Amino acid sequence: MAEQSVRWGILATGGIAAAFTADLVDLPEAEVVAVASRSQDSADAFAERFGIPRAYGDWNAFADDGDIDVVYVATPHSAHRAAAGLCLEAGHNVLCEKAFTLNARQAGELVALAKARGSFLMEAMWMYCNPLIRRLKALVDDGAIGEVRHVQADFGLAGPFPPAHRLRDPAQGGGALLDLGVYPVSFAQLLLGEPSDVAARATLSAEGVDLQTGALLSWDNGALASLHCSIVGGTATAASVTGSQGRIDVPYGFFFPDRFVLHRDGRDPEEFTADPADGPRNSLRHEAAEVMRALRAGETESPLVPLDGTLAVMRTLDAVRDRIGVRYPGEAPEEDRAPALTPA
Ligand SMILES: NC(=O)c1ccc[n+]([C@@H]2O[C@H](COP(=O)([O-])OP(=O)(O)OC[C@H]3O[C@@H](n4cnc5c(N)ncnc54)[C@H](OP(=O)(O)O)[C@@H]3O)[C@@H](O)[C@H]2O)c1
Repeated sequence: MAEQSVRWGILATGGIAAAFTADLVDLPEAEVVAVASRSQDSADAFAERFGIPRAYGDWNAFADDGDIDVVYVATPHSAHRAAAGLCLEAGHNVLCEKAFTLNARQAGELVALAKARGSFLMEAMWMYCNPLIRRLKALVDDGAIGEVRHVQADFGLAGPFPPAHRLRDPAQGGGALLDLGVYPVSFAQLLLGEPSDVAARATLSAEGVDLQTGALLSWDNGALASLHCSIVGGTATAASVTGSQGRIDVPYGFFFPDRFVLHRDGRDPEEFTADPADGPRNSLRHEAAEVMRALRAGETESPLVPLDGTLAVMRTLDAVRDRIGVRYPGEAPEEDRAPALTPA
């Protein structure tokens, strides 16, 4: 694998599968060799659109394809456990979209499967691979703003999303939290780790998914994170990190920033901007490059998106759902899920 291109298989043919594949086909070190769909027609159309040689209308046949180096799972979250699990069982390496699974229990099962097989597994948390986010984290870790006291972040879309849309459908893991709230939570946990306590309130839809959720995360050292997500209102989608000696403000699109401003107490603000050589701000190429780097290095997880971090985020999402009373069809009762953080 060190010299030849990395052969990708794409599982599902929806919106993000197309966006990711479009970025992959531009990378000289990547080759998209197969696509799978629940329908042969969709697989064929996707294969024709991107010039992919093998198209499967059957997940099992795709999983049996031995000439794939890594599978990208791009189904709705409700199917991540089944899709990624099938591919891991078949011996494949897997990059799985966010939210990684419906709950922490499913996430733990995938991680255990990957470890048992010695396969690579990573959540497609592209924010963690973004060069400016990595710069921001390095600054915070180096103490540029002192000790982190508070993180604020939000991500809301105005929609409107019709009831049949996957974001409104409990059976597809719908709601704002798993689709959008995963970014504010992942941002806060990138800087502060797993919280010790979670409080949350939400507005629920008639179908029982969260239309908007506000969460307050807290840490034993006194740090707090105020987070919001919504599928019924377009928010600033910005973030701010306040420390004991300054603040970092990330404007619109905080999870794929093109700039941020560092305010150190007593100094002029410093602006950090994206390197034009890094490509369009919404490019998924950094995430793809990290997967291929890790595979070539023989690593089974990425240090940028560690599996422990993914599991910790899933535990927080479970705790938030516990507080707001959202449970998905077929989910185990509360007591069977991963241990919740201390109830608010
Ligand atoms: N990284 C990002 O920036 C980003 C952006 C958007 C979404 N996402 C994540 O990516 C995932 C997919 O989102 P999307 O916007 O691409 O959704 P989408 O457009 O609805 O596509 C999902 C695809 O999954 C397959 N699918 C649909 N229902 C399914 C089911 N019940 N069981 C199994 N497969 C099913 C379908 O493909 P086939 O018909 O081919 O089977 C469908 O086209 C979600 O987990 C979402 O959170 C990530």
